[in-house]
Amino acid sequence: MKSVSVVIIGAGPAGLLLGQLLRTSGIETVILEQRSPDYVLGRIRAGVLEQGAVSLMRQAGCSERMDKEGIVHHGTALMVDGEMHRIDFRELTGSSVLVYGQTEVTRDLMDARAASGATTIYDAEDVSLSGLDSTRPVVRYRKDGVEHEMACDVVAGCDGFHGVSRRSIPADVLKTYERVYPFGWLGLLSDTPPVDDELIYINDPRGFALCSMRSQTRSRYYIQCGLDEKIEDWSDERFWDALQARLPDAHQSRLVRGPSIEKSIAPLRSFVAEPMRYGRLFLAGDAAHIVPPTGAKGLNLAASDVYYLWQGLKDFYHHGKSDGLDGYAEKALARVWKAERFSWWMTTMLHRFPDQPAFETKMQKAELAYLFSSRAAMTALAENYVGLPY
Ligand code: APR
Ligand code: PHB
Repeated sequence: MKSVSVVIIGAGPAGLLLGQLLRTSGIETVILEQRSPDYVLGRIRAGVLEQGAVSLMRQAGCSERMDKEGIVHHGTALMVDGEMHRIDFRELTGSSVLVYGQTEVTRDLMDARAASGATTIYDAEDVSLSGLDSTRPVVRYRKDGVEHEMACDVVAGCDGFHGVSRRSIPADVLKTYERVYPFGWLGLLSDTPPVDDELIYINDPRGFALCSMRSQTRSRYYIQCGLDEKIEDWSDERFWDALQARLPDAHQSRLVRGPSIEKSIAPLRSFVAEPMRYGRLFLAGDAAHIVPPTGAKGLNLAASDVYYLWQGLKDFYHHGKSDGLDGYAEKALARVWKAERFSWWMTTMLHRFPDQPAFETKMQKAELAYLFSSRAAMTALAENYVGLPY
């Protein structure tokens, strides 16, 4: 049977970043991915990196393009009741975020992995895990109709929300926590200049909207929509009209419309699985937790999980110590829950909930009024947005 130190399930940003970091530490990995590289790169996700994620890309040796093309943002705007309120990250926290798309992060990591010669098996079907509670787990998969198996020391479950890793933890061990929100985000990507230099989060009576970007010439916009909406019913024209209506007056005339490159509807969900470790299986990223996208924490949380796991694996292989791995789940979850709270709070504060009781509406208004009146509250938002320490 073939054998490798670490098998990573999933070639999303979590799996690829872990693979590159382990490589810098001389730890050998094989990545098993059920899809093709093009399919993985076709998924459009958020585009805001905390300094922690930026630093990990640098440590992984994958930051050349990111450092050139990423746009530093020192603040963001929240628009409520027609008024713009800027949250100044630099003044409130001394820090900033980097706008660089997750697709680009994934592409850079994929290219670096391919150049390094490390093994990534794409189109791996029916991946299954066994012996996770032993010291020598076995991973099986099928490729081009041929069955394969591989022994390893550790399995990193980086296979996203629908992956096999979390499902391989016995049901009586796993506990899950979930909130499903009664709306989705309809997103549109277009090669048009962004409507503003910074991101704008909008709480409008017609529903939430977000103006984001990928570059000076590529915009990413979202509007809140019902869960029963069908993408076929949303022509580009209808999307642009709905977005424009939610924009601040001054921005309405500045909005540049163009054909969509991508348009999709995503449901919003908060989800955490505990523990993030079972025997020699360690979950990281969306395999263990989902945040609603308000605040762009998904990729950043995957990055902090990967950091803790990398540290634990270095201790294990270089010093023969398992303390880091033993403490992984607890450390990662402490940060995960804080980001869950922040993402839930931003979502609750900025969206219009269908059939919202009048009391809840008043609470939302009071929350926002307090936020904009208090430097302490704005600092709390800013320090979570730029990213809590690892
Ligand atoms: N076998 C092999 N690979 C699998 C399997 C499986 N059974 N199931 C899923 N995968 C692959 C998926 O095809 C995908 O490429 O695992 C990868 C998981 O990638 P992501 O879903 O992008 O998850 P993650 O790497 O944790 O990224 C976290 O991505 O979704 C955003 O909000 C999230 O921004 C966050 C970031
Ligand atoms: C995005 O650019 O896609 C984006 C930015 C910020 C968010 C969510 C998504 O909070």
